[in-house]
Amino acid sequence: MKLFVDTGDVKEVEKAAELGIIDGVTTNPTLIAKSGRGFKETVQEICKILPEGDISAEVVATDYDTMLKEALYVSSFAPNVVVKVPLIEPGIRLVSELTRRDIKTNVTLVFTVGQALLAAKAGATYISNFVGRVDDLTLEGMDAVRDTVSMVETYGFDSEVLVASVRHPLHVLESVRAGAHVATMPFKVIEMLFKHPLTDSGLQRFLADWNAAGLHILE
Ligand code: E4P
Repeated sequence: MKLFVDTGDVKEVEKAAELGIIDGVTTNPTLIAKSGRGFKETVQEICKILPEGDISAEVVATDYDTMLKEALYVSSFAPNVVVKVPLIEPGIRLVSELTRRDIKTNVTLVFTVGQALLAAKAGATYISNFVGRVDDLTLEGMDAVRDTVSMVETYGFDSEVLVASVRHPLHVLESVRAGAHVATMPFKVIEMLFKHPLTDSGLQRFLADWNAAGLHILE
């Protein structure tokens, strides 16, 4: 399973990259705007920090011709850019075209299996299924993830199911249970995954016993 960090903050990407467990980054127009920096410079810096990772950068036009121009421009930023495209009609047309040109894509704002089917048929590299925003409506965001994973496996689509709009560690657990290929999350959720009180108290006890015995590893 791939772990992506969902951020437009270069410093957070650096901290996440140091862990050596991050496979990519997802940004969106809101996250880039929040970073307070320019789009191209931010995406290029992130691409440099994680040169082996897939870095999603989103187009913002909503008509096909401009979307295509933006997509080609964005994909020229770095070899590891993945063009993020919203699930609208010109978006699906764009993904079909980018697939034909061997350019990786991430179809975003996907909420239903029907939408995911359109993205898979267009050859999307990643299908970003949002869960938190559905949970916010007191609905089960993970239902569509489970069904989409099963659809991709049943028909042998190449697309990977990416769980997005992850808000807490339980979403990560559910992503694993659903067999999702990727989960993207804010850096604070990655930090939360480390936490367990028994890890903290266990380590405290090990170190107390070790130190009481006057032991050392390094000479
Ligand atoms: C994913 O690619 C999106 O950028 C992100 O996960 C959206 O999360 P939110 O619903 O918490 O804004």
